[in-house]
Amino acid sequence: MSIASDQDKRHQIIDACREMNRLGINQGTSGNISLRHDDGMLITPTSVPYNAMQVDQIVFMKLDSEPGGGQRPSSEWRFHRDILKARPEVNAVVHAHPPFATVLAIMGREIPAVHYMIACAGGDTIRCAPYATFGTEELSRHAVTALADRSACLLAHHGMIVVGTSLAKAMWLAVEVETLARQYHGCLQIGTPPLLSKAEIENVRTRMAGYGVGEE
Ligand code: 13P
Repeated sequence: MSIASDQDKRHQIIDACREMNRLGINQGTSGNISLRHDDGMLITPTSVPYNAMQVDQIVFMKLDSEPGGGQRPSSEWRFHRDILKARPEVNAVVHAHPPFATVLAIMGREIPAVHYMIACAGGDTIRCAPYATFGTEELSRHAVTALADRSACLLAHHGMIVVGTSLAKAMWLAVEVETLARQYHGCLQIGTPPLLSKAEIENVRTRMAGYGVGEE
């Protein structure tokens, strides 16, 4: 687990936000990122363009609290807080509106096992949580449920959430999930893709334990 300081983590969050937009997995002020810190989380502020975001605008919130005065946290602080509370192994939560993942989320489709890399997200599907208004408790509940035993989910008519033991892992997975969404979308243009079995995805999961980028 990371022993990075509060300041290091604030810089990591801003770098990752800018990287999301550079990678094309997010755009504008959409999306938000949190990192576990002490008994709380550091989270991006609401509606601040990433290029202009400053370290002192990143908000610290305890996991048992609601926002206080001062800089307002992301409107999605509830699902960041609730995921970190529900999943002690998770240290980073990344939310974005990537084009292909969002196309599937608009259609209410989960991503099935079209490619073995889906195992990196924890199982043979990436679920799509039902729609609820952004920032609500209802959306948070749906997100926590869709993420059960998984490191990624889609949010209907909205976007994607990925989680990781580190921010580097979550960012790596975000790109993999958008790639899977793009591949599945491409397959759907041709027909109904054949799927890998649940047993094969479990086999891949075992072989891939520890695969991907390391801890920070
Ligand atoms: P914030 O700017 O409040 O983080 O909102 C962006 C977003 O994507 C909401 O889902």
